[in-house]
Amino acid sequence: MQYKDFTNVQVMDHPLIKHKISLLRNVNTGTYEFRQLVEEIATLEGYEALRDLPLKDVEIQTPLEKCMTPMIDGKKLAIVPILRAGLGMVPGVQALAPLAKVGHIGLYRDPETHEPHDYYCKLPDPIDQRLIVVVDPMLATGGSAVDAINSIKAHGGKHIKFMCIIAAPVGIERLAKAHPDIDIYVGNVDRELNENAYILPGLGDAGDRIFGTK
Ligand code: PRP
Ligand code: URA
Repeated sequence: MQYKDFTNVQVMDHPLIKHKISLLRNVNTGTYEFRQLVEEIATLEGYEALRDLPLKDVEIQTPLEKCMTPMIDGKKLAIVPILRAGLGMVPGVQALAPLAKVGHIGLYRDPETHEPHDYYCKLPDPIDQRLIVVVDPMLATGGSAVDAINSIKAHGGKHIKFMCIIAAPVGIERLAKAHPDIDIYVGNVDRELNENAYILPGLGDAGDRIFGTK
């Protein structure tokens, strides 16, 4: 379903996604299960995000006869996780598009200012003809996603989608306003940010929960 009057923002309404996000939130969900859930949600969201891939009829020989039948046409894919937590979503999208190239953007949020700092960027080259799916489970202030997409555009990326699992309203609005040309897919819109710019109710620190670092 569309988020408010942002025509480029879709919020997932599938019960399987809702159920799995509830499991993710639970403080008692351990690292192994957390990682599996992130992957599964990424597959389910990816299914929605790739719904508009172009098709072209091609001729196939079945065991009985030749027929014209649709196959995905045109744009090749790139999956671009925002490090670290975005890495957890990559296998879920690869399950749908196993031949997609994978780029990486390294960003961390300054704990005081909450502003993103970039430390790494390696993208498939050339990138301009690819459909780029940027993944990060958390969209909080929106600073990291806006910066990541600025970098991708600076490298020539043109066709960009962004997928997250949980978002704060302020982050969605910042990203949608900064990059009105991209499609944004959100698992759930949470209530607000706390004083440390963590999402409430949220799920805590996604990177730490995926990699077991806290
Ligand atoms: C988290 C998350 C996003 C960012 C979201 O990463 O994975 O990248 O915060 O916050 P924002 O919308 O306010 O920018 P973090 O900086 O904690 O790094 P990590 O993934 O390495 O733990
Ligand atoms: N990053 C996270 O991992 N969690 C939040 O709630 C906000 C930013």
